[in-house]
Formats: sequence, C-alpha cells, structure tokens
Amino acid sequence: MIEEILSLVRKHEDWRVKDCLNLIPSENVMSPAVRSLLSSDLGHRYTSTDRFYMGTKFIDEIELYGEKLAKQVFDAETADLRPLSGHIANWIFLSTFANPKDKVLCVSADDGGYPGVWKEGLTSLLGHHVVGFPFSKTRMNIEATEAVELVLREKPRIVVFGASLFLFPHPVQEITRAASEVGATIGYDGSHVLGLIAGKTFQQPLKEGACILYGSTHKSFFGPQGGIIVADKQHGESLKKRLFPMFVDNAHWNRIAALTLALAEMKTYGQKYAEQVVRNAQTLAKALSDYGFPVMCPDDGFTQSHQVLLDYGGYKQGMKVARNLEKGNIIADCGVRLGTCEVTRRGMRKSEMEKIAEFIKRQLIDKDKGEKIKKEVIKFVRAFQRVEYCFMD
Ligand SMILES: Cc1ncc(COP(=O)(O)O)c(C=O)c1O
Repeated sequence: MIEEILSLVRKHEDWRVKDCLNLIPSENVMSPAVRSLLSSDLGHRYTSTDRFYMGTKFIDEIELYGEKLAKQVFDAETADLRPLSGHIANWIFLSTFANPKDKVLCVSADDGGYPGVWKEGLTSLLGHHVVGFPFSKTRMNIEATEAVELVLREKPRIVVFGASLFLFPHPVQEITRAASEVGATIGYDGSHVLGLIAGKTFQQPLKEGACILYGSTHKSFFGPQGGIIVADKQHGESLKKRLFPMFVDNAHWNRIAALTLALAEMKTYGQKYAEQVVRNAQTLAKALSDYGFPVMCPDDGFTQSHQVLLDYGGYKQGMKVARNLEKGNIIADCGVRLGTCEVTRRGMRKSEMEKIAEFIKRQLIDKDKGEKIKKEVIKFVRAFQRVEYCFMD
C-alpha cells in the first residue's frame, strides 16, 4: 500500500516536473524554501482568533509578519492571509457586501469570467442576481462606456473586476465613479494576475478605485495554493470580523508561513519576475501567430499578462488541441490558454519562448512524430529544473 501511494506521487513528480513543459496559466512553482515550509510542524497546529488554543506564540508572530509583508507588497491598509483559496475569498467578499436578491456585476463566464461566481457558482448559492459586463471579445475587455451606463441603470450592490481569461487590465478607474455613485462595493478578483500586480507590472486595482483585492496565491503569484485578501481599512476590517468563525476555522498555518516567505520573495524579486513573465507571454504569442495559430487580440499586441489565448471556437475543439499537446508532453488547458509563469520561474526567456512555439507548431501543425517531439521536450525541460526569483537561487 505504502509503495503504491509513494510510487504514484513519484511518477507524477517525475512526469510533470522532469518531463513536461507546464503551460497552465493557473499554475506555478514554489521555491524550495517556500515549499519546505509546507511540511513544517505548523501543518499540525491550530490557532484561532478567539485564542482558544495555547502554544501559538510563534504562529501568531508569523501571521502578523505575513500581513505586514502583504500590506507592503500590495500597498494596502489591511491584509488577511487566512482564506483557504481564491474561490473562498470570492465567497467571503460576495457574502459580506451583498444580500440575497442584490445585483452583482462581473465578467460573464461566456466572456472568460470566473465560472465560480457566475450563474451556477457562488452567486447562485448566495441568491444574488448576476449581471454580465458589456464585453468585447475582439479586445477581450470590458466595454467601459457601456459599462458605466449599465452601472447607473442597474445599480449593482457589488462590482467585481477580474477574470479567468485575462489578457489586459480592466477599466477599473473608468467605472469606479459610477459604481461609487450607486453605492456599489468594488472588488477585484486578482486570482490570475496577483503576481503581476505584486510585481507592479499590471494595473494596481487598489489605487484605481477597488476597495478590495483578493484571489489565489498560486497562479501568477508563486506561493502555496491558497487565498488572500488585501483591502482599504474600512472594508478590510469588516471582512476580518467575519472571517472567523464563518469562513475559516483552521487557516492552515504551514500554508501561511509558506505564503509569508513567498511574499518576501515577491517583495525582493517580484518586479523582475513579473516583467519577464509578460515579456515571455508576448514573445510566445507573437511566435505562435507567425506560425499561423489563431492567437487572440493581435491588434492589441496579444497580451499584457501571463496568458496567451488561442481561439479554437470553444471547449470541444480546445479539448482536442490540449489532448494533442499532451501527447508531446506540452501541458495546457482546453481554453486554450497558455501561461508563462512556471516556465519563467524556471529561468526561460525569449529564445526558449520561440522554441516552445516551434514545439507547439510541430506537434499541432506539422504533425511530426509525437515520440520525437516528446523526447526533445524532455531534453529541453530538463535543462530548466531550477527555480529563479527566490532566496535559495
Ligand atoms: C478568476 C478566478 N478566481 C478564482 C478562482 C478560484 O481560485 P482557487 O482555485 O484558488 O479557488 C479561479 C480559478 O482558477 C479564477 O480563475
């Protein structure tokens, strides 16, 4: 039994780390130091806001240290590292600032918004009425002028920026005034772009008018899997009061220690990392477009984030493409989204992005012998096993 379990984990690690080109934009890799904290004793312990448990003096210090770093990294007045995931951070935000039957305005799942808040997700659970932003699929962005009119007409209780298919900064500043006028609370789900926001290479939602920025800590942000909320004082404090015991009991302190160290790495190396991530996405997009791939948004320079989107017209065709790529050990999703976070963290730059585009072309267009490409991909990946932009480099 033990052998079987360990062997499955080992097989996964050997395959995904040593043999695969990982291009899923919602994934990243932790540094060895951050990763090691996940197996520390903190993963056995409890502490909670009501001080029920003894033995927590160092855990309490870690929590404060993490919050302090998060406030610095995101220029925020409050920070909370306890949300267990980006989805849960969405739940905390939506349920705190809207009541059943209230309107929530966000990017529709059909336009690349997060399905977890759309009609079958949290807004349905919470009884909210969800409304989609006017959206341009050509520009992959919210139509700002129409959105302002919609906000004034519909008077949503909550406006949420951010998306899962996310290429360009959203027009937060343009919509904020109308949203405040109708009394909406403005949130920004930065799950995908959190590392780019931290690295000051994407928009700065809290400066542009959002009251709360929240999301996952493991997509473009290179921490452990989990969630975070940073906010202005007023909104951050009301969220903090509700977090325990409503949404989080044990906040998983090994994760929070690891996230604290990742925040320190982000503070030190974040800008260089984020700039390279975006440059790599732009290089990859351009090279794929030159090969004739249907890369979205050519007129806007393809992307300003970590994502490159290939438009195959839907999930079914996307699935075929992603499965075909997997045969060559190139791992993407059915979006088809390609992400440059992990390959950047492993030290890849311009020439490697061009090589990746060539692998993709040979696998999908030339229909080269799969086994040959796979062998070349493995050789290529094995030369980039280190993790950069971290203290243990
Ligand atoms: C925009 C957005 N928000 C939230 C989530 C959920 O994040 P998590 O997996 O951390 O719960 C996702 C998932 O990919 C997402 O794309």
